[in-house]
Amino acid sequence: MEDVPPDLAGHPDRLRWNAKYGDAPALSPVHPLAERALALDLPDGGVLDLASGPSGGALLAAGTGRSVTAVDISDLALGRLAAEAGRRGLGSLITLVQADLGLWRPDPPGYALVLCTGFWDRAVFERAARAVLDGGALAWEAFSEDARRDRPGLPAEWCLRAGEPASLLPRGFTVLQQADVPATGKRRLLTRHAT
Ligand SMILES: C[S@@+](CC[C@H](N)C(=O)[O-])C[C@H]1O[C@@H](n2cnc3c(N)ncnc32)[C@H](O)[C@@H]1O
Repeated sequence: MEDVPPDLAGHPDRLRWNAKYGDAPALSPVHPLAERALALDLPDGGVLDLASGPSGGALLAAGTGRSVTAVDISDLALGRLAAEAGRRGLGSLITLVQADLGLWRPDPPGYALVLCTGFWDRAVFERAARAVLDGGALAWEAFSEDARRDRPGLPAEWCLRAGEPASLLPRGFTVLQQADVPATGKRRLLTRHAT
């Protein structure tokens, strides 16, 4: 990664996640939702991986020849993703963006697939849905409010309410799957925009 942008140097999310990634394995395994979404018949276009971490899914997508934009606040995670992409000869297909998702905006004309696992913010979700190309897919997984029973410290605003995220989709989307993932406190959504 290049130098950390000055406005992110002291950002609490960056500091927290860099510390977490310090002890974590170098790469996140490919998320099953990423695998399923990439197996759909998607239109031409890139993949946007939000809160990507050192994403195995981004590498899988780039391995199919798609361009990938990976956005995350952790320079440590993005550095690991860059290193692995380089080892696999995929560096030119992956654009790394170190940014706070609360402020970052997707590039037009949009993406064939927008993927996000392990992060929740309503406004980010709504922007992500608007960034899906016709015929493209949106795949999301985040904690639901049920997770707060086992993790009372988990802030309510980081958790999906009943019916979310499908209930927040704009018109034009068909939900392929929305289901709670057993024993995780997480809910998974796979949805597709009409052509
Ligand atoms: C639970 S991890 C999920 C990583 C990856 N998507 C996965 O499923 O393994 C949450 C990710 O969100 C990123 N993150 C947290 N707050 C963020 C923010 N405000 N802006 C951008 N990324 C953020 C963290 O750096 C971390 O990589």
